[in-house]
Amino acid sequence: MIYVSPSILAADFSQLTNEILRVQRAGANMLHLDVMDGQFVPNLSFGADLVSSIRRRTSLLFDVHLMITEPQRFIQSFLKAGADSITIHIESCDDPAAVLSYLEDCHCRAGIAISPDTPIEKVFPLLDKVSMVLVMTVRPGFGGQKFMPESLDRIRAVRNEINRRGLKVDIEVDGGIGLDNIGKVTAAGANVIVAGSSIFKAKKAAQVIKSMREIAEENPFTPDGK
Ligand code: DX5
Ligand code: ZN
Repeated sequence: MIYVSPSILAADFSQLTNEILRVQRAGANMLHLDVMDGQFVPNLSFGADLVSSIRRRTSLLFDVHLMITEPQRFIQSFLKAGADSITIHIESCDDPAAVLSYLEDCHCRAGIAISPDTPIEKVFPLLDKVSMVLVMTVRPGFGGQKFMPESLDRIRAVRNEINRRGLKVDIEVDGGIGLDNIGKVTAAGANVIVAGSSIFKAKKAAQVIKSMREIAEENPFTPDGK
């Protein structure tokens, strides 16, 4: 199953509810919420209060991506605000396994994100603690960046390891994803697609999401790469 999760970072914030309803009607399954603290990444975005206020406006699943140091400090706030899944960065704290266990105790879907410069094998010991691995396909911090093609081997390595161990874990990709590369990421093993610019900046978001799903279906994961 392919999930499409538009990142509101690329939305017109002055029209946020309309923008969210636009992508909901266009066929998105989730809403990707990028939380940045100006420390873990060189940018600021928004916090739990915004998440809580948009929670009342949509039924989309809230896919919260925490790009903040020591994320354990804010997990309760985001749970209260209505997060359906919370993804923390492996680079953002000393003991990511403990934070993931805490999320599990709170019955929240837990994700682990990994930035492009971190060796991909670092997530392997955490695979049985998560519902999702977020393989970043740009350096975190800003929307509208160019997809890093080196990510494809990283996605494939995680998918092969998940399958080898018989686990059921989603792979999310985030950064620079559009119609030109979605087939490559699904063929490499991703099934949760974050897209900011390519959906929110499109005039016809429904057409983009429909084409994304078609291309994903035509390009399923194959273990050997072809
Ligand atoms: C980057 C964020 C992404 C970003 C994606 O740090 O995590 O979610 O908003 O935006 P696009 O799709 O425009 O690259
Ligand atoms: Zn993100």
